Amino acid sequence: MGSSNWERVLSLVSLVLLVMLVSWHNTLSACASSFTEEADALLRWKASLQNQAHNSLLPSWSTTLLPDSARNSSPRAHLKETETSHCTWFGVVCNDAGSVIRINLTNSSLRGTLHEFSFSSFSNLAYIDTSTNELFGTIPTQISYLSKLIHLDLSINQFSGKIPSEIGLLTKLQVLSLNQNQLNGSIPREIGQLRSLTGLALYTNYIDGSIPKEIGNLSNLVYLCLSENQLSGSIPPEMGNLSNLVQLYMDTNNLTGPIPPTLGNLTKLTILFMFSNQLLGPIPIEIGKLKSLNMLSLKTNNLTGSIPALLGDLSRLTLLHLYDNKLSGTIPKEIGNLKSLVDLELSGNQLNGSVPASFGNLSNLKVLLLGENQLSGSIPREIGNLTKLVVLHIGFNQFTGYLPDNICQGRFLQKLSVDNNYLIGPIPKSLRNCTSLIKVWLQKNQLTGNISEAFGVYPYLQFIDLRYNNFYGEISKNWGMCPRLRALLIAGSNSIPGGISSSKSENSTQLLQGPFPVPQAYSTILSIPDHKLTGEIPSSICNVTSLEVLVLSNNNLSGTIPQCLGNFSNNLSVLDLRMNRFHGTIPATFVTGNQLRTLNLYGNNLEGPVPQSLVNCRNLEVLDLGNNEIKDTFPSWLESLPEFKVFVLRSNKFHGSITGSKAKHSFPKLQILDLSDNDFSGPFPTKYIQNFQAMMNRDGDKIKLQYLGLPYYQDSVMVNMKGLEIELVRILTIFATIDLSNNKFQGEIPNLIGKLSSLIVLNLSRNSLIGHIPSSLGNLANLESLDLSSNKLTGEIPLQLINLNFLSVLNLSQNHLMGPIPQGQQFATFENTSYMGNSGLYGCPLSRKCKGNGTPQPPPSILQEEEDLESASGFDWKVASMGYGCGMVFGLVMGFFMFLTRKPECFVRIIEGKRCRIEKRPKNRGHQRAGRRN
Ligand SMILES: *[C@@H]1O[C@H](CO)[C@@H](O)[C@H](O)[C@H]1NC(C)=O
Ligand SMILES: *[C@@H]1O[C@H](CO)[C@@H](O)[C@H](O)[C@H]1NC(C)=O
Ligand SMILES: *[C@@H]1O[C@H](CO)[C@@H](O)[C@H](O)[C@H]1NC(C)=O
Ligand SMILES: *[C@@H]1O[C@H](CO)[C@@H](O)[C@H](O)[C@H]1NC(C)=O
Ligand SMILES: *[C@@H]1O[C@H](CO)[C@@H](O)[C@H](O)[C@H]1NC(C)=O
Ligand SMILES: *[C@@H]1O[C@H](CO)[C@@H](O)[C@H](O)[C@H]1NC(C)=O
Repeated sequence: MGSSNWERVLSLVSLVLLVMLVSWHNTLSACASSFTEEADALLRWKASLQNQAHNSLLPSWSTTLLPDSARNSSPRAHLKETETSHCTWFGVVCNDAGSVIRINLTNSSLRGTLHEFSFSSFSNLAYIDTSTNELFGTIPTQISYLSKLIHLDLSINQFSGKIPSEIGLLTKLQVLSLNQNQLNGSIPREIGQLRSLTGLALYTNYIDGSIPKEIGNLSNLVYLCLSENQLSGSIPPEMGNLSNLVQLYMDTNNLTGPIPPTLGNLTKLTILFMFSNQLLGPIPIEIGKLKSLNMLSLKTNNLTGSIPALLGDLSRLTLLHLYDNKLSGTIPKEIGNLKSLVDLELSGNQLNGSVPASFGNLSNLKVLLLGENQLSGSIPREIGNLTKLVVLHIGFNQFTGYLPDNICQGRFLQKLSVDNNYLIGPIPKSLRNCTSLIKVWLQKNQLTGNISEAFGVYPYLQFIDLRYNNFYGEISKNWGMCPRLRALLIAGSNSIPGGISSSKSENSTQLLQGPFPVPQAYSTILSIPDHKLTGEIPSSICNVTSLEVLVLSNNNLSGTIPQCLGNFSNNLSVLDLRMNRFHGTIPATFVTGNQLRTLNLYGNNLEGPVPQSLVNCRNLEVLDLGNNEIKDTFPSWLESLPEFKVFVLRSNKFHGSITGSKAKHSFPKLQILDLSDNDFSGPFPTKYIQNFQAMMNRDGDKIKLQYLGLPYYQDSVMVNMKGLEIELVRILTIFATIDLSNNKFQGEIPNLIGKLSSLIVLNLSRNSLIGHIPSSLGNLANLESLDLSSNKLTGEIPLQLINLNFLSVLNLSQNHLMGPIPQGQQFATFENTSYMGNSGLYGCPLSRKCKGNGTPQPPPSILQEEEDLESASGFDWKVASMGYGCGMVFGLVMGFFMFLTRKPECFVRIIEGKRCRIEKRPKNRGHQRAGRRN
């Protein structure tokens, strides 16, 4: 404080001195020293700049005369030249008296600071533009010496530090542009002194703190942009005084609180952007007074309440974005008055009711996003009157009835999303005329029709998702006429029992049949799971070398798997042929450099060895060979695959012991190991388990929750949990399980198993394990299911197991355990069956002397039971699939819901380059569990 006061005094003193100098100069009319001072100051500053290699920087800024003018270089002439020439330097403009009034060095490759710039030397400077350079350092407080400054543009540099409060002394300033730097700190209150300001641009910095209410004093402001900072706090109501504002941008900050109704006073506003903040409360009806508004975006906030009907008065609106809020109620029919609207986005709210017929008046509309709401009724025919529509997104609602037959009247439609509704009936014939289509989402409805007749020839179509409808017929026929089709996703309606369109009449469900179509050359995705495709995979599929995802799971395909599938495409990342009738061997042709991430051959009749060439799949994350007839020993050479996460060999005829690990870090990322139901023998595979880094010490808070999979493919795997076979449709990257059950493993369970602290399921049952139960199992704090039954374990049940707060399944039966059963905590919830067949065990619940009903409830499991699912359908399962940053525990609950509900993958949809984000919260279950964890 003291020093800045001193600086102010100093600056005043120097101002006074300057004024004296200037007036002295004016009276004398020729004061060489003033001008040489300016020139010297400029040269000194130039000398301080860093990038002067080859003298290329500001070459005209020089006192040495240029060669052609060097002819008459008497000393006197030289001085004369110098005195006047700085006014001719690049970017420098002087007044008639020869004093600098304007410096414009925009985009001049300057690198350096302003600290060597002698502001006190420029008494007449009115315009500074050093935008688009590489200037850095703080903005010097001495800038306040420039008392005549009208225009200051330092934008698009790397200035850092705070905006100096001394800037408030520049009271003549009309334009202040500090945007696109790295400024931090808060906006100084002194900015309110800049009463002449008409334009203020502070966007894209790291400015934090709240918007000072003094900004309301800037009554001449026409343009104000504060976007893309870290401003917090609420919007000061004083901003309603900025009655000359034409454009106001406050988007992409962290502003909270309500939208002040006073903004309704800003009747000259044409643009009001407040999106991507955390604004709360309703949209004030006063916004309806902003009759000049052209664009209004409040998207991605926490706004509640209904959409004010008065917005229908904003007749000049071309853009209205309210999406991704918590708006509820019906869409006011008055929105249909906004005849200038081109872009209307209301998706991702909680709007209900039907779409007003008045929408048929919005004849200029090109983008209409109503998706992800609770809208119902039928899709109004009036939508068909919107003949300029390019993007129509009404997916994720509760629309019923037919798709209107005029839905593509305008023929400009490129993106059509009606998925996840309750639409019935056939695809309207008019869709055949919709030749502009590029991307189409129809999945998860109850649409019907013969797939070979329902669609037309779409020259631009790249992507179509037809999954979970009731289409039938042969698909091989007509898709050949869509030359740009890259992704065709089709699946049977019966594959989502809990899904939205769950067809009660599964028997009558018509499935696609016949041989599957060889996709277009250059296709990237072919996904036709859950149908009745028959026959063999023709090896001609190997000509489609662009394929990235090939999913033919759950069909009736047979024959052998073409060998070429191992090496036909360098791009192939998913090969999912599970649940078919393939026999023979696994392709052994995997070559180095391939991209394969998932190889899922579960549930076929494959024999023969695990091909050694799999070691070439350096990106392999998921290998599921379960439920085949494979006779082989443990493929230990897979241990070196760096990304390997899910390894399933269950229910085959693997044999031999699993002894040596050769690598120092074997299976470093493994999180699911299922070797159950084989003939493995020998000692417990301790050497491997001590290397399972991924199962150890995972600090949940630091992990980004993710699922294995790609946007259009989610890995899933059958695992045995709690005695049930469950399909994990989504595999959380933090889910960890080891299942060695039903083999012939011998020896003791090593104590170091307690290091695998992220294990959720541990099943070692039905082996020949001996020795004690390691007390270290008590460290497996995430364990939900522990099955050690049917072994030869001896000794007591370690008391430490009481620490397993999430344990809901415990099976220690059929061993030789003895001693007391630990009491309390979760142990109060287990039944006799957990301990049966151990003659030496005693205590509750085996003896009947158990205390009354003071037993705790088992904690809510991350594995929700089936009956919970209906109630769970109210919240949105897409959240986690988009990787939004919920807390870890919360996300875990969500994740497990998802795979149990078996709702298929959702994907991030890009509509017109914008991600339609929705973020909804579960009712309370997540918090419940989170609470118990703490
Ligand atoms: C600086 O010059 C550029 C063009 O070279 C111009 O666009 C800009 O408006 C000028 N800035 C000022 C403040 O005059
Ligand atoms: C936004 O504000 C909240 C508190 O209001 C704070 O916890 C959070 O870190 C802020 N986010 C950013 C990006 O500044
Ligand atoms: C500004 O808006 C407020 C509330 O909307 C109103 O009470 C006040 O009269 C308005 N002020 C002016 C100058 O229009
Ligand atoms: C806004 O909503 C999000 C998501 O519901 C929540 O995390 C956040 O805390 C809310 N912000 C405020 C300021 O209430
Ligand atoms: C749709 O447009 C036609 C003319 O193109 C018009 O006759 C009809 O009334 C419109 N329907 C509605 C509901 O606006
Ligand atoms: C498709 O377009 C043709 C020619 O423009 C037209 O005759 C036909 O009626 C249209 N079909 C449908 C179903 O709209």
